[in-house]
Amino acid sequence: MTPLSKMQTMLFETQASLSPQAFVDRIIGHSQQDSSLKPAKACGFGAAPVNIALSKYWGKRETTLNLPINSSVSISLPGLGTQTELSLTEGQQDQIVLNDQLLEPHHPFAKRLSGFLDYFRLNDHTMFHVDTLNSVPTAAGLASSASGYAALVLALNDLFQWQLQPKKLSLLARLGSGSASRSLYPGFAIWHKGERDDGMDSYAEAIETSWPELCIGLLKIDIGEKSVGSTAGMQQTVNTCELYQTWPQQAEKDVLKIQQAITNKDFTLLGETAEHNALSMHATMIATWPPILYWQPESVAAMHTIWQLRQQGVTVYFTMDAGPNLKLLFLETQKPAIEQAFAELEVIQPFKQS
Ligand code: PMV
Repeated sequence: MTPLSKMQTMLFETQASLSPQAFVDRIIGHSQQDSSLKPAKACGFGAAPVNIALSKYWGKRETTLNLPINSSVSISLPGLGTQTELSLTEGQQDQIVLNDQLLEPHHPFAKRLSGFLDYFRLNDHTMFHVDTLNSVPTAAGLASSASGYAALVLALNDLFQWQLQPKKLSLLARLGSGSASRSLYPGFAIWHKGERDDGMDSYAEAIETSWPELCIGLLKIDIGEKSVGSTAGMQQTVNTCELYQTWPQQAEKDVLKIQQAITNKDFTLLGETAEHNALSMHATMIATWPPILYWQPESVAAMHTIWQLRQQGVTVYFTMDAGPNLKLLFLETQKPAIEQAFAELEVIQPFKQS
């Protein structure tokens, strides 16, 4: 099977009008004369939660600035995420410590992080020491890159004392990982896809609502590293999946529905939209070539259990990202029935925990 004609890709692609370095410089106000890349303290610190998209981001219209084809809405999970300490160090290369383990410079995680840090070096001799602790398994479809890059940007902001507003921090985090733009906020967040070629209007904002009864259940099917990363997966989808043509329009409609559901505390609308949105995204992945199927037999079995529970009057829905794990959505009143069906479930109430 040959990839789709260049036409489909052209439907979505835009041309970046800034280099990533110029984008960063514009946000932090860096120029040769100023001191925005001289540390203001010995060590910077940042902490950020993971977030789960209720209406997903899938597809980039521009890859160097990480600009999405569609907007998305998420919920952050307090207590699960990343804590990062950042300082400058002597030596020839960055030192990246992940969960108390010093990584080899060619380790994919270290390479990607150092590549991002390149935008923040005063000169070729600036090397960083990054000490990062993840309370979620890295690369398991539990959005550790989202909390990771959000925490790193907060640590940079602290180290250099830029005092950037959340919108600008979100723009910077987006450059590291798209979904990281949403991890700057607790609770609900919306990432506006933006229209501009310089990417300055593609950032996330908080949706200021509290929903104490809302529960998220994490059903870990497999926490091993995923076979296809999300960037590769979305590029392949945009390039080879005909079904993808309907995705951007559906995604924008779903964003509106999720916002409406949050405003009206309409749980059925929230759950139905989130589940349908996730399955539609997975449908586009499955319909690429070669196919991308993140599900495992246990993922499908869990879906059936959820659909059976719904038939029995238990209001529970699910969403899934680029991995086999499910995230269940339900209200507090349904918690006992759901915990009975899924003994291993980790339940989080985003607005009741801190
Ligand atoms: O931010 P990335 O590049 O890891 O992509 C995230 C993609 C999904 O998790 C599948 C969807 C989303 O909106 O978080």
